[in-house]
Amino acid sequence: MGGQPLYLAPRLESRLRSLLHSPDLLHTLTDALGSPLHVVVPDQLADNLRQFRSVYDTHHLAGQVFLAHKANRSSALLRRLAATDAGVDVASLGELQHALGAGLTPDRITATGPKNPDFLWLAARTSVTVSLDTRGELEQLATLVRKHDLPRSRVLLRLSGFEASGVRVLTRRSRFGTAVGESAPLLDAVERHADVLDLIGVAYHLDTTSLTEKAIALEGCLRVLEECRSRGLRPRALDVGGGFGVDYLADGGQWERYTTGLTEAVLGMRPPLTYGGHGYGLRNEAGTLRGTLGLYPAHRPVAGARYLDELLAHPAASLGGRPLAALLLEHLYDLHTEPGRALLDQCGVTLTKVLEVREPEDGGPLHIRLAAKADDVALEDHGVLMDPVAVPREQETTDGAGPVAAHLFGSLCLESDLITRRTVFLPHRPAPGDLLAFANTAGYCMDFHATRAQHQPAARKVAAWQEGERWRWCLDDQYWPTTPVGGAQ
Ligand SMILES: Cc1ncc(COP(=O)(O)O)c(C=O)c1O
Repeated sequence: MGGQPLYLAPRLESRLRSLLHSPDLLHTLTDALGSPLHVVVPDQLADNLRQFRSVYDTHHLAGQVFLAHKANRSSALLRRLAATDAGVDVASLGELQHALGAGLTPDRITATGPKNPDFLWLAARTSVTVSLDTRGELEQLATLVRKHDLPRSRVLLRLSGFEASGVRVLTRRSRFGTAVGESAPLLDAVERHADVLDLIGVAYHLDTTSLTEKAIALEGCLRVLEECRSRGLRPRALDVGGGFGVDYLADGGQWERYTTGLTEAVLGMRPPLTYGGHGYGLRNEAGTLRGTLGLYPAHRPVAGARYLDELLAHPAASLGGRPLAALLLEHLYDLHTEPGRALLDQCGVTLTKVLEVREPEDGGPLHIRLAAKADDVALEDHGVLMDPVAVPREQETTDGAGPVAAHLFGSLCLESDLITRRTVFLPHRPAPGDLLAFANTAGYCMDFHATRAQHQPAARKVAAWQEGERWRWCLDDQYWPTTPVGGAQ
């Protein structure tokens, strides 16, 4: 098999663990609805939301948690969200329509991202808060409101390009938001259009795992809010966007061993750990390791609500060193968050059926072909490395021969259709008809990248929930909070 197996076992909380220990249900579902199949678990979303809320409570902060809808198209998840008190962040006309149709009232919706005129019109028409990226967008919205005689629009100003005072620490570049250095002309425009625009606050979203960068952005926003107040404006919210992250792996030691092993493999010190010797951004230049590891830090002990907690406790270096939460509280600013991936942590799995298990001629890792395309299980697209969980069709089919190394191929007639480029280690050799279940795919890995290439269907989606010990399910589209007996709480 080529060395000790390097497992990357997924972190499974009780709901997903119970679901993956229900082989009859999972095989019945894929027999009926095909492979791949996404299963979402809406009740987990409500639990995750409670964890975010408890961080608000710890810091005595008011405000709203908005699920970043883009992370999953599911109706069931959105309708379950509507049954809580949370909001949603929509980034397209379709997402806005979906949110309104799921029962989220406009006061619980924020429109972000690039906006076409139709999206902007519907947001303004329904009095959804609009997070404005640029001065141009601000002018466009003001014109639209006047022209169509729409209600005064509630707006946030999204900012970017923050800089720590004193030290040269910059937040990463973003093509979204207005550079904080350009906020003065932006505020002039807000004042000019005060009859049609109501500035409720400022926002940022940084695509980084760095707490320091986010703290710098939050401080920068606090300063701009002060500037607003000194102009007589009355902003009341600070939106810190998303990016709280997920801890995908059960065991940090496995992650350490894998990344060390990958480095050694790239340097030729051990056999490759990937298909074709792919280095995930690392390369060997005459015996020296170059490049940077382009992988999601799959083991993240501080992720999700805990990450928000640490951000809020972070001292504001340029504002007297007090915790950021204390500064928000002092001004009675509402805290808005837009978690996507983190709110969908443990909210679903993707099931794929094994079609073929073949020993390649060169005697290397097994070739396992799955009834799924790489874009149906987009973990690799997001740089998330995590083992699938085998769900055998027949319990007794395991050959007792122990672990195998394998490469997982998709069903497209394309060399690059690899479910993952990593050599995956499985505790047993699977058989055709078995399922490989990819855990924790609800955040971005179900439908964000899905195609219908080669007339192959995109995966169907079902929603599942527990009634006592028993799992129940329905098609994603059929789920409403009234569906589970007793309704969602
Ligand atoms: C404006 C905005 N808010 C929130 C998010 C959600 O980010 P995450 O899923 O990392 O929490 C995104 C992601 O692209 C975003 O663009």
